[in-house]
Amino acid sequence: MNMVFYLGSSAMKPACRILFATRCPAPFRFISAKWNHAGSMGALSSFRFDFGRCLFHTNPCRAVNIGRAVDEVQNTFCLPGSGFGRSWNLLGSRGLHGDISHRGVIAVADAVRSLSTSVETRVNDKNFERIYVQGGMNVKPLVVERIDKDENIVGVEDSSIEVVDDNINLEKSKAGLNESNDVSAKREESQVEKEAWKLLQDAVVMYCGSPVGTVAANDLGDKQPLNYDQVFIRDFVPSALAFLLKGEGEIVRNFLLHTLQLQSWEKTVDCYSPGQGLMPASFKVRTVPLDENKVEEVLDPDFGESAIGRVAPVDSGLWWIIMLRAYGKITGDYALQERVDVQTGIKLIMNLCLTDGFDMFPSLLVTDGSCMIDRRMGIHGHPLEIQALFYNALRCSREMLSVNDGSKNLVRAINNRLSALSFHIREYYWVDMKKINEIYRYKTEEYSTDATNKFNIYPEQIPLWLMDWIPENGGYLIGNLQPAHMDFRFFTLGNLWSIVSSLSTPKQNEAILNLIESKWDDLMGHMPLKICYPALKREDWRIITGSDPKNTPWSYHNGGSWPTLLWQFTLACIKMGRPELAEKAVALAEKRLSEDRWPEYYDTRTGRFIGKQSRLFQTWTIAGFLASKMLLENPETASNLFWEEDYELLEICVCALSKSGRKKCSRGAARSQILV
Ligand code: GLC
Repeated sequence: MNMVFYLGSSAMKPACRILFATRCPAPFRFISAKWNHAGSMGALSSFRFDFGRCLFHTNPCRAVNIGRAVDEVQNTFCLPGSGFGRSWNLLGSRGLHGDISHRGVIAVADAVRSLSTSVETRVNDKNFERIYVQGGMNVKPLVVERIDKDENIVGVEDSSIEVVDDNINLEKSKAGLNESNDVSAKREESQVEKEAWKLLQDAVVMYCGSPVGTVAANDLGDKQPLNYDQVFIRDFVPSALAFLLKGEGEIVRNFLLHTLQLQSWEKTVDCYSPGQGLMPASFKVRTVPLDENKVEEVLDPDFGESAIGRVAPVDSGLWWIIMLRAYGKITGDYALQERVDVQTGIKLIMNLCLTDGFDMFPSLLVTDGSCMIDRRMGIHGHPLEIQALFYNALRCSREMLSVNDGSKNLVRAINNRLSALSFHIREYYWVDMKKINEIYRYKTEEYSTDATNKFNIYPEQIPLWLMDWIPENGGYLIGNLQPAHMDFRFFTLGNLWSIVSSLSTPKQNEAILNLIESKWDDLMGHMPLKICYPALKREDWRIITGSDPKNTPWSYHNGGSWPTLLWQFTLACIKMGRPELAEKAVALAEKRLSEDRWPEYYDTRTGRFIGKQSRLFQTWTIAGFLASKMLLENPETASNLFWEEDYELLEICVCALSKSGRKKCSRGAARSQILV
């Protein structure tokens, strides 16, 4: 049987809805119910599922197992019966809240999210039942629930969920922000900065009357915006930072809460449902016409099912966690991260990342194009960018998760992974003169647990360019590591976030900045900052990119220059006490960005030309520039985002925890050399 049912909608504002789904219908159809405050469904004491209304533009079919979730929600709300496709009576919501309003719907949604709080057990529990909650284009309206009682009590009846009006109750965060966090207020802004602020404001996206994000690009002359008119999770990060440093927390808070509602509700590629907890790559606010000249606004997420190449947005959830922590640190509004639904969101992401698979490494195994580089570029496997963001998100989660019986297993798993991951990256991804010389003399085909050349790297793989390029006093983390394969390309974002999160050692951090400084012409050129170095050429380009005409050598992801990387470079430089390097790079960018109309990326070996297919008025270029300026002016604010070395973590050795005595731990010997 193919059934999808629709649980609810909002009351006062344009109706926004929550969907639950079961099997793949053919043709798929939705059972929808509408309700509004005035009671267009009569007294609202009940609502019916109404077959035949298709709400999705993408293929919504999926195999989901929500039976348990629904049963539990039904029980919680005294809903009758467990059969789908029948009328449900939501009188239960009256019982809970004393009146009939959209609270009931929100409570149901939260009930489902609360049920999901059992995820932490899944780290060790292979029998964990997955609960899929699907929202698709239809999510809750802009309502913010405030949980007044003890937030650790998960039961719905105990958590009095209060719907605050569209004028979000942000007193707390606003107070914190307005008093002290407008770090830009100290001096007169330059013309370029003023222009940038204006453009950033113009890029703001509204949903039900409140700001929820920024579009990726706001180029009015662009006839083919593709998906650049959407709010990308990763692209919003510098916008969020710029707003936070400016003292504007509301948009960030709204963004965090709305994307949380989109989490893992709907993403399908040809009827396949990936794991719960995935965050979308982007979302769009759509206006859907209703009867009687009314419209409703819906949030329409893209989990990769519409993206070019159908790439999985692995980095989105990691960025979301990083942003959540930054929001708390900068605004002082820690109540947000303590909320039950937000805690559950963190757990879902962590749980998805920590799920066991076939992989042997502590690094995260992903498909090609699962991060900022969202096209085929030979970065499938264990790309550095994902590992650095993963490490950072693990550290943020460990700090933000409230430890209790329900979360202690997850926290333990996070600690173990942090320790193993940092060891793995520091030991096996690091290259400098000395290490390359070692690899150059590697023996191969070593069979044993104490092999030196563990991944069976053939020395012939060392590229010729690298032998000349590697400086005496610098080093970096390679782009990827697989059996018999080291990707020696320098990937900027991964190296910068390794510094920021202390994934690499303090010495390695120094050495990465040394390398950037000594290879300034290659990595900064006329416009900071190369996304990777060097470009893939000729046969490599043909085979690795699949002859991608957008990723020709020194263009776009293949060695193009991306000004948005500037704020991340600034962060790393401030952390390492070398702000002058960042100042030099920002000055370089400032000379051209406004004149060039804030391009997305630049082409050529040294970044002289505006990218061939570059969008103009690209928001993260604008926001990245502003964030860099503000960070440089108030370097102390950078500490809200970076991490120092955690010496306790270095003491944990996962092997010691292994019950089977089969593993031989090689960390003891390596530890002294690589950990500091
Ligand atoms: C491109 C970039 C990606 C970015 C998106 C929106 O696809 O590769 O990182 O998020 O554009 O700007």
